[in-house]
Amino acid sequence: MKIKFRTRDFKEKKQRGEKIAMLTAYDANMARLLDRAGVDAILVGDSVGMVVLGFETTVPVTLEAMIHHTAAVSRGTERALIVADMPFMTYETTTAEAVRNAGRLMQEGGAEAVKVEGGSAVLEAVKRLVDVGIPVMGHLGLLPQSVHRVGGFLRQATTPHDADILLADALALEEAGVFAIVLEAIPSDVARTVTAAVSIATIGIGAGPECDGQVLVLHDVLGLTPNLYKFAKAYADLRSEVIAALQAYATDVRTSAFPDDAHSFH
Ligand code: KIV
Repeated sequence: MKIKFRTRDFKEKKQRGEKIAMLTAYDANMARLLDRAGVDAILVGDSVGMVVLGFETTVPVTLEAMIHHTAAVSRGTERALIVADMPFMTYETTTAEAVRNAGRLMQEGGAEAVKVEGGSAVLEAVKRLVDVGIPVMGHLGLLPQSVHRVGGFLRQATTPHDADILLADALALEEAGVFAIVLEAIPSDVARTVTAAVSIATIGIGAGPECDGQVLVLHDVLGLTPNLYKFAKAYADLRSEVIAALQAYATDVRTSAFPDDAHSFH
């Protein structure tokens, strides 16, 4: 029997010095493969907006879209913990709205935890979510939902002052009750300091090797993305394979090589 990965396993793995492997997924089929591969946790990221839906940023992603994709992922998953991103403006306005929206991700989407971006600005929402029984993952460093304020997808915490703010935010998020924090696009030494300072797990993406775990976008790992960020790594070249397979199919159709006898009813 597969043993379900739980939020408490994040901290227990950190304490045992075991790394946590997390990836994004957006549909049931891929979620099934991630589960089969033994990935610990699946993030239904709002990166779905850029990776699957063709948006330039994650800002246009709606709660309905997140519920739709989270429900698909949960139908394909048995073991991995499912964390759903709360999209832009679904947790920043009032704590009541944050609770209502996170509740929908859990009840309608099957999420087992939610992720919110930011530090001091989201502490009240985090505390309330945790109080009412919703596990929350934090997210510091590069915050894709703030791309328009920042002016791009830029590295963060690159000055001692900003690194101090990030550390203070991490400690405040831990105090507010998050079970783990994603650290995105920050220098490795800042991630090391934060990881040593908090007792909860840090999950890095572009934050160096000393976080307690790593998360990447699935399409990057599979080699389906044309231009990778420096911190992403492709473990396959599916883009070339997919194009070759589709070209072979089109050629077969045009030359009447497909369907052949084996693929026809008699
Ligand atoms: O939406 C997402 O995929 C994320 C990861 C980059 C951590 O938030």
